[in-house]
Amino acid sequence: MSFPFVPNPSPVSAQERAGRLVDPGFGRVFTDHMATLRWSEAAGWHDGRICARAPFQIDPASAVLHYAQEIFEGLKAYRLDDGALALFRPEQNARRFQRSARRLAMPELPEDLFLQSIEALVRADADWVPGQEGGSLYLRPFLIASEVFLGVKPASEYLYVVLASSAGSYWKGGARAISLWVSHDYTRAAPGGTGEAKCGGNYATSLVAQQEAIRRGCDQVVFLDAGERRWIEELGGMNIFFVFADGTIRTPPLAGTILPGITRDSILALARAEGLRVEEEPYAIADWRADAESGRLTESFACGTAAVVTPIGRVAGPDYGFTVGTGATGQVTQHFLDRLTAIQRGRAPDAHGWVQRIG
Ligand code: PLP
Ligand code: COI
Repeated sequence: MSFPFVPNPSPVSAQERAGRLVDPGFGRVFTDHMATLRWSEAAGWHDGRICARAPFQIDPASAVLHYAQEIFEGLKAYRLDDGALALFRPEQNARRFQRSARRLAMPELPEDLFLQSIEALVRADADWVPGQEGGSLYLRPFLIASEVFLGVKPASEYLYVVLASSAGSYWKGGARAISLWVSHDYTRAAPGGTGEAKCGGNYATSLVAQQEAIRRGCDQVVFLDAGERRWIEELGGMNIFFVFADGTIRTPPLAGTILPGITRDSILALARAEGLRVEEEPYAIADWRADAESGRLTESFACGTAAVVTPIGRVAGPDYGFTVGTGATGQVTQHFLDRLTAIQRGRAPDAHGWVQRIG
C-alpha cells in the first residue's frame, strides 16, 4: 500500500459539510484529507500517505518559492447514477504530469502511483462529492521543488500533494455563454517554451492579460501566437473549438505552445466517431471575425476539465467586437456538452473505455 490512510482526527461534521456542498462553486471547498508523497535523490518516491488536509511547513528557501519549479494537474471524480464513483481518463492526466515533469526537469511520478494517490483520496473523501447535477470532486495533484537551496538548478527533493475540492460550476452564477478579450499585447507561450506543460508559471504570466479582459468587461482572455500575433491558441485555462455552417469543427493544432487538453482530445474523438469533418488547423483571428460576421462560422466553445464545454457568445479586441452565432449556446456546443457529461456520469455507452470506476 503506497498511500496508507491516516484519518483526519477532527473531520468536518456531516451537517457542516452538507452546508458547504449546497453551492460549492469552484476551488474554495476542500475536503478532510490530502495525499502526500516525497521524492529525494537518495530515496526516490517514499513516505506516501492519505492524511488530514492541513497547512504544511515549508522552508522559505525552498526552490519552488524562488524559481517556480512546480507542475500540476486537474481531473474530476463523478458520482455515477448507480452510486459508484468514477474518474474520467485519469491515466491521461498521469501521462501529462510525467511530460510536464520532464519539461520542468523534475522526477516523473510513475503512472500507478499517480492513480493510486487519486483513488485512495477519492475513497477517503467520497462524502464530499456534491450530489446535485453538475457536481464533482475536482482533484488537484501538484509537485513542488522542496530542496532548501538558492542556486538555480533542478532540485534534489520534491513534495507531491493531491488536494480534493468539491465543485459545482466553474462560472459564477452557473453555466452561460462567455465573452472573450483577445490579447494582442500579451502572449502565453512561445515555441520552445512551456506552453504544453501544465506548470504554475504559465498561469502566473496569464494573469495580467486575464485582468485586462475583466477590465474590458469580458470573462476570459484568448491568447494569440507569440510570433505573428495572428493565430488563435487557447484561453488561460481552456482549449477552444470553432464550428462552421458546413458542419466542420476546428481546433488549433498541438504545436508545442498549447496545452494538450484531455477534454479537447475527447471531443475530437467523439466528433470523428460521429463522422464529422474535424480539423486540427490554425485559425487566424481576422478569419474568426470575418467568418462570424458572414455566417460561415456558427459557434465557438471553450473546453477543459474545470470549464467542461462552455459556449463563447462575444469576442472583443482593441478596436473590434463581434458576436458568435446567436450569442447563446449553439446546437453543436450543446451536443458535445451533453455527450461528454453523459459519458462521464455513466448515462451513455462508454465506447472508448474512458470511465474508470473506483472500486
Ligand atoms: N488549456 C489550459 C491552459 C488549461 O489549463 C486546461 C485545463 O486543464 C486546458 C487547456 C484543458 O485541459 P483538460 O481538458 O485536460 O482539462
Ligand atoms: C482545469 O480545467 O483543470 C484547469 O486546470 C483549468 C484552471 C482551473 C487552471
